Amino acid sequence: MKIAVAGTGYVGLVTGVCLAEHGHQVVCVDIDEKKLEMMRLGKSPIYEEGLEELMTQNASRLTYTTDYVNAYRNAQVIFIGVGTPEKSDGSANLQYVYQVAEQIALSVENNCVVVIKSTVPIGTNDKVEEYIKNHLKHDVVVEVASNPEFLSQGTAVRDTLHASRIIIGTETERAKQILLDVYKEFDAPILTLGRRSAEMVKYASNDFLALKISYINEIANLCEIVGANIDEVAEGMGYDERIGKKFLKAGIGYGGSCFPKDTKALSWLASFNDYELKTVKAAIEVNEQQKLKLLKKARRYYESFRGKTVTVLGLTFKPGTDDLREAPSLINVPLLIEEGAVVKVWDPIGKENFRKLFKDSVEYCVSIEDALKSSDLCMIFTEWDDVKNLNIETYKKLMNNAIVLDGRNCYTSESIAKMREQKITYESIGR
Ligand code: UDX
Repeated sequence: MKIAVAGTGYVGLVTGVCLAEHGHQVVCVDIDEKKLEMMRLGKSPIYEEGLEELMTQNASRLTYTTDYVNAYRNAQVIFIGVGTPEKSDGSANLQYVYQVAEQIALSVENNCVVVIKSTVPIGTNDKVEEYIKNHLKHDVVVEVASNPEFLSQGTAVRDTLHASRIIIGTETERAKQILLDVYKEFDAPILTLGRRSAEMVKYASNDFLALKISYINEIANLCEIVGANIDEVAEGMGYDERIGKKFLKAGIGYGGSCFPKDTKALSWLASFNDYELKTVKAAIEVNEQQKLKLLKKARRYYESFRGKTVTVLGLTFKPGTDDLREAPSLINVPLLIEEGAVVKVWDPIGKENFRKLFKDSVEYCVSIEDALKSSDLCMIFTEWDDVKNLNIETYKKLMNNAIVLDGRNCYTSESIAKMREQKITYESIGR
């Protein structure tokens, strides 16, 4: 099929490339000419495993352009995968979605289905359809369908090609059949439902996962107080299939482009409709507190960080991505700097993005060893393999004062026992 995709971020680009992989002719539309030029050369503007390989393999079915008129004119299906960032009141900013909707209305010359992949508040699909209808330049029929995206960064390609489920929310049989046709080669269960339910599935899923993380983090905090071990507790819980083993990893809280934004957006939507979504609100609150957990622990060792050298291992919100959005490093590092600490940071791929924000207010280290040299305190914010596989002795050998505060529970009980032998002070979350 002839498909256009608006937006070449994590959602848009991965969707476009995976659709091409299944034989569709795809044109990716963006406003950033520099990014498009990169993609034409087969380079991905985002770090995502396997993506560049697929871009190369499907180069004959993929084009990249700023020329939305030509891209949308004869497209049978147009996916919208632009960002819906958080506004200052917590609600979703739909400005980019509406910009694309307007461009579609002015460009399409054939009947088509517009598919909203971006995460949008319940009811947005109805409003976008209405908006496009009211702005159409040509006499064509445009239907809007909801098809939320569930990919995780770092495994986006796999999550798209072998999705846990494909949710198709439509209001007409015609739109439903077209979407079923788009996805007929995909290896995933397909569920067809109403548009508003489809929109809600996305928020309800993300918020449930965020809630699960905040719940396990609170249990971890309590484990610390009462002398239990969260790893053992989570394992014991996970054997119950109703609970499941996944997303029970305690730490310094969730970050990323989805959970923080989607919890706040649903909470906002509820209160806008005079309903208080108490569970989701609690998840948000717990997460905000959790992000400061290591700093609180650090204060037990140093009254002030003035003049202390602090090593930060891991800057991104999780391993496998260069994305820093809502990462715990973003609130902790400025607090350390503010208090006069000398901050040395290490991250295998997030450094460059961090540099854009923090310029030279921190020292960027090329190796973990370099970052640990003469340090008074080490904080682990991301569970990169290099950190997990580090020889424990390195902390003792290189640091001034071997205090390691691990926000991602990187080390096993054997490693922790070794640290104790080596007189390394080690604390993690909930154990
Ligand atoms: C998430 C959802 O998983 C995905 O389905 C949705 O489409 C977008 O949001 P992503 O943000 O890429 O994906 O990452 P994810 O792996 O879910 O992790 C999000 C955050 O939760 C990370 O900061 C991670 O460290 C944290 N997390 C995850 C935990 O603290 N504990 C866990 O058990 C799992």
